[in-house]
Amino acid sequence: MSTTLVRNGTVVTAADRYQADVYIDRGVITLIGQGLNLPADTVIDASGQLVLPGGIDVHTHLDMPFGGTTSADDFESGTIAAAHGGTTTLIDFAIQGFGEGLYPAFEGWMKRAEGKAVVDYAFHMIVRELTDQVSGEMDKMVRHEGLTSFKLFMAYPGVFMVDDATIFKALLRTRENGGLICMHAENGGVIDILVKEALRKGQTAPKYHALTRPTRAEGEATGRAIALAEMAGVPIYIVHLSCSDALEKVKQARDMGLPAYAETCPQYLFLSYDDYEKPGFEGAKYVMSPPLREKWNQEALWKGLVKNDLQVVSTDHCPFCMNEPPQKQIGKDDFSKIPNGAPGIETRLMLVWDGGVRTGKIDMHRFVEIVSTSPAKMFGLWPKKGTIAVGSDGDMVLFDPDKETTLSAKTHHMKVDYNPYEGRVVKGGPAVVLSRGEVVVDHGEFKGKKGRGQFVKRQPGKPLVP
Ligand code: URP
Ligand code: ZN
Ligand code: ZN
Repeated sequence: MSTTLVRNGTVVTAADRYQADVYIDRGVITLIGQGLNLPADTVIDASGQLVLPGGIDVHTHLDMPFGGTTSADDFESGTIAAAHGGTTTLIDFAIQGFGEGLYPAFEGWMKRAEGKAVVDYAFHMIVRELTDQVSGEMDKMVRHEGLTSFKLFMAYPGVFMVDDATIFKALLRTRENGGLICMHAENGGVIDILVKEALRKGQTAPKYHALTRPTRAEGEATGRAIALAEMAGVPIYIVHLSCSDALEKVKQARDMGLPAYAETCPQYLFLSYDDYEKPGFEGAKYVMSPPLREKWNQEALWKGLVKNDLQVVSTDHCPFCMNEPPQKQIGKDDFSKIPNGAPGIETRLMLVWDGGVRTGKIDMHRFVEIVSTSPAKMFGLWPKKGTIAVGSDGDMVLFDPDKETTLSAKTHHMKVDYNPYEGRVVKGGPAVVLSRGEVVVDHGEFKGKKGRGQFVKRQPGKPLVP
């Protein structure tokens, strides 16, 4: 095992900014100081660059069977793309099989990642059936396996959706075991009826995916999820929040002092309903749930990030190819069959820096907070991950605020044949990326090794985010 010295950079955390050298010994930061004069196996000059904690993406779907196919990135290609974009830890989802406990899913997803991932990873567990045995296994996941969060769905009837009683039971269980429930909050019953009605009228184009998933359906489910968590007396985390209707529910709860938390994603900050109106089948690129919203919602979401009503930006990376292979095409004649999801694991930091920091909406400390520190604090990874401090892992991004990138499927590393931001020029991006002190990306060149990524056991307990 080796030592790395990163010299002359500007260290930026959620709280601090200072010139310093950072010394990493066997993966862990052991010294931070000025003019460190130590021998090291690797010495990196970070002059002119910001030294940020590695990005943490708490919502990805690699190698995920869904919508009659499997997401296009596996744990190798997906984590390589993540590393290129400055993300050094991700939390993916294991899915409980029908009629099964949680262990087959946990072991199955460990196998999917092992020997492939190039950066560190953890799992949330998607719970589909909550028997007494499964409730007991939730405890074991939290206490023994370091898997401390569970995703439940209020949408996708027959696939993932669970009823309120199941949600309430799972919430109560986290009061005992210190886990956290993550909620996909859309009213699946209402949406199901709207989808059937649209199809009956012959409305089959991709845009009807959005038109049958109104913001009220997300707002209602968000409010209900928070109310259930309040009755259970536990925190709740709303995933991929897309619109003002849902944000209002989170805001109201937080104003009442309830521990309600939420993430949004770059697609909701930068894309909009207008993308569904693109010609032909183009709109399928943006079929995801919740769908893209009218543009005015973006300003509300940014305000939510500024005011900490939203604490995290994750990606919900769930890529399906348009043509090679034809995955989105499964729903060519029926929008309800288009596999839901879009790529984004590689572009999160660049987009949020360019659209957030460069425009003056947030400062660079808030940037670090929403892409790294709060995700770590929310999900039991901090202070091992999410900051630059003695004792933390040497996960770092040497970030060049002047680097210009044209986002494109021609150059990205995600294994998907389109980029939702095709042609968009962003300023500010990762120059060098280190995972536990090892350089994994050096000026666009991948230097890591397949399988070097490690499973990270997480700490249970209340989110450490204010
Ligand atoms: O459309 C989406 N979001 N696909 C991934 C599954 C989910 O609900 O997160
Ligand atoms: Zn979801
Ligand atoms: Zn998702």
